[in-house]
Amino acid sequence: MTDTLLLLSGPNLNLLGTREPHIYGTATLADHVERTRAAALRNGLGLEHLQSNFEGELLEAIHAARTSAVGIIINAGALTHTSWALHDAMAAFEGPSIEVHLSNPAAREPFRHLSVLAPVVNGSICGFGGLGYDLAVEAMVTLLGRAEPN
Ligand code: DQA
Repeated sequence: MTDTLLLLSGPNLNLLGTREPHIYGTATLADHVERTRAAALRNGLGLEHLQSNFEGELLEAIHAARTSAVGIIINAGALTHTSWALHDAMAAFEGPSIEVHLSNPAAREPFRHLSVLAPVVNGSICGFGGLGYDLAVEAMVTLLGRAEPN
């Protein structure tokens, strides 16, 4: 069976493409998912994706990933800054996990400077737009020990 990565997209990310394009760009969420899926596939990994505007749905997907996914890539949107429940769920996931943000929250409003997920993921990739998803897959492949030695 192919090892599967779970890609999670939080609130409002369904609006990408038309949502504040000067900040988030014009690519849609489907574009980002396809890009991530292609990168995963190139590395022999499958990809499942869930976008939800509901915190509980994201929590349940993380719980399910404990037995169905080898790693999690998460852009939790604004829940990044507030959700201790997502923090706890991610802490309970034993595989590698990576936080992605299209924009660079550290360069934006002060309320975006705190990520409650940052302490419980392996690393954060911020500010590179859609490229961040490619970089996340690349990092994931290394964390999973599947990278070609160089
Ligand atoms: C975001 C950054 C968050 O602060 C914001 O609430 C989002 C998108 C990003 O990808 O840049 O919804 O996660």
